[in-house]
Amino acid sequence: MIKMDLFSRIAHKYDNIVGAFNFEEIGRSLPLEKEDLLLDFGGGTGRAAEHLEAVVNGCIVLDRSYEMLKQAAKKSIQSHLVQGLGESLPFRKNSIKQIFVNDTLHHIKKQRESIEECYKVLIPKGKLIIREFDRRKFRVKILIFFEKILRFGSKFFSPKELQGLCHEIGFNTKFVPLTKSKYLVVSMK
Ligand SMILES: C[S@@+](CC[C@H](N)C(=O)[O-])C[C@H]1O[C@@H](n2cnc3c(N)ncnc32)[C@H](O)[C@@H]1O
Repeated sequence: MIKMDLFSRIAHKYDNIVGAFNFEEIGRSLPLEKEDLLLDFGGGTGRAAEHLEAVVNGCIVLDRSYEMLKQAAKKSIQSHLVQGLGESLPFRKNSIKQIFVNDTLHHIKKQRESIEECYKVLIPKGKLIIREFDRRKFRVKILIFFEKILRFGSKFFSPKELQGLCHEIGFNTKFVPLTKSKYLVVSMK
């Protein structure tokens, strides 16, 4: 059984803590294919899927936390909700065309395994879009400090490290700067 983690405990107030997903800020930078299904990996309360499902051909929100998904279920969204672990995705090899990982990778314990798993389930030329905080930036150092106090056990990458890891796994990668503290690494299988 998956044990109750911090996200499950704060799930009912998660959206209030982090605020709305800023689709305006990121929408144009996301290389999404509108005719394809999107896997929102670690999609939690469906905060991002709520916006993204309107610009793609359906969303699957996958998260380890049943409590986070329960919050997603309360929203009027069409996305499919799936409880599962990033390091063992419940999808067939070569079956998914696009995966979005929003503010989640630094919370994943088995980061390499999860990216390898994404590689496995993506079709050739499928895309893995990871949005992360840049740990070299001052504002992010403050976030890292608070996550340490809260014992989140987060592990942040610099864009170069993340690109390096995705490249090692077999992806071709591209760095896309977003804001002062956030970036995308877009990887193609
Ligand atoms: C900071 S939240 C981000 C949620 C969502 N992507 C968003 O932008 O609102 C991180 C999420 O990752 C999920 N998570 C952590 N480890 C996971 C794993 N190994 N597999 C799947 N989901 C995981 C947590 O349950 C949590 O919902």
